[in-house]
Amino acid sequence: MTIEFLPMAALLREMRPELDAAYDRVATRGRLILGPEVEAFEAEFAAYCGARHCVGVGNGLDALAIALRAQGVGPGDEVIVPGHTFIASWLAVAEVGALPVGVDVEPASFNLDPAGIAAAITPRTAAIMPVHLYGNPAPMEAINAIAARHGLFVLEDAAQAHGARYRGRRAGSLGHAAGFSFYPTKNLGALGDGGAIVTDDAGLAARARRYRNYGSSGKYEHEIVGANSRLDELQAAFLRARLVRLDDDNARRRAIATSYRDHMQGIDALQLPKAEPATEHVYHLFVVRTPRREALAAGLEARGIGTMVHYPRPPHRQRAFADRTPRVSLPVTEALAGEVLSLPMWPGLTDGQIERVASAVREVLASH
Ligand SMILES: Cc1ncc(COP(=O)(O)O)c(C=O)c1O
Repeated sequence: MTIEFLPMAALLREMRPELDAAYDRVATRGRLILGPEVEAFEAEFAAYCGARHCVGVGNGLDALAIALRAQGVGPGDEVIVPGHTFIASWLAVAEVGALPVGVDVEPASFNLDPAGIAAAITPRTAAIMPVHLYGNPAPMEAINAIAARHGLFVLEDAAQAHGARYRGRRAGSLGHAAGFSFYPTKNLGALGDGGAIVTDDAGLAARARRYRNYGSSGKYEHEIVGANSRLDELQAAFLRARLVRLDDDNARRRAIATSYRDHMQGIDALQLPKAEPATEHVYHLFVVRTPRREALAAGLEARGIGTMVHYPRPPHRQRAFADRTPRVSLPVTEALAGEVLSLPMWPGLTDGQIERVASAVREVLASH
């Protein structure tokens, strides 16, 4: 029996009654754009995050870009971003005409290194975008302290961290604003694209709300040049069904991570994700690090176990950014690109499957 990296069809099958009920509600009502499901989801998700406002948008990249735009970040500004992240963090900065300035990550947590931030600040720096990578909150205390000292906007990229906590507070309430993605594979995923901005700042939320809907606050009244980036009613209805389960799902992910760690303790040349006391990691991904990454991936594949690499080439080494950012060297990020491997992680993973994955990892690495 194979163990898929993420068996999406099985996950949806298991939720079918709730998803069918959500569809039925929307189809019966016949309101498909900006209606009661989006409004209800926005209220429920803001409350869940411990923030005052939530604005549903088309996807996570738009959430980040619209939040930056709503804050007035644009051409001539620099935004500090981690080197080791999905390219969307950098694209959001480029989207508003600002310059992404890559900073290296900490080798233990793979999150933005506060020591690197201080060194990267210039008179043009307008914002810092920490990414809670793989579901693990970035070191927000240090990041917020630097931001406060220099008067910078802090935008959390919380695309992978729905429900994660840092010193008791949830992702989405740890900076000035946050961007979430509801891409289907996320801990809180839709059945298509979706995203949201979460913030306590009423002005920023109002500007984002207007921008996402053609720059309009009232029908056929357009105060600014906006865009069309809205969370659909149907996706909002699906997300409401999944939000009810999010805490249970995250608790199971954390239990799976503990079990993986127990089973893979002491394997030579294998670095496991650390459980930090101040944070509640929600394991969107369970990522191990080994210099024998290619052999491990091939060995697991031969044993019917699916893996993925997040991410094999950092944004500053992508052609897209070759001429657009300062030439930087980010040694930890560059090493991670060749050594990280994501193992199967989803709430329905059984104890038997966890043991099979762990013993396959042990076996493959012992034979190299
Ligand atoms: C860290 C990070 N930022 C931003 C995004 C962008 O989200 P989306 O795919 O919904 O545009 C993603 C996910 O894809 C992500 O993992």
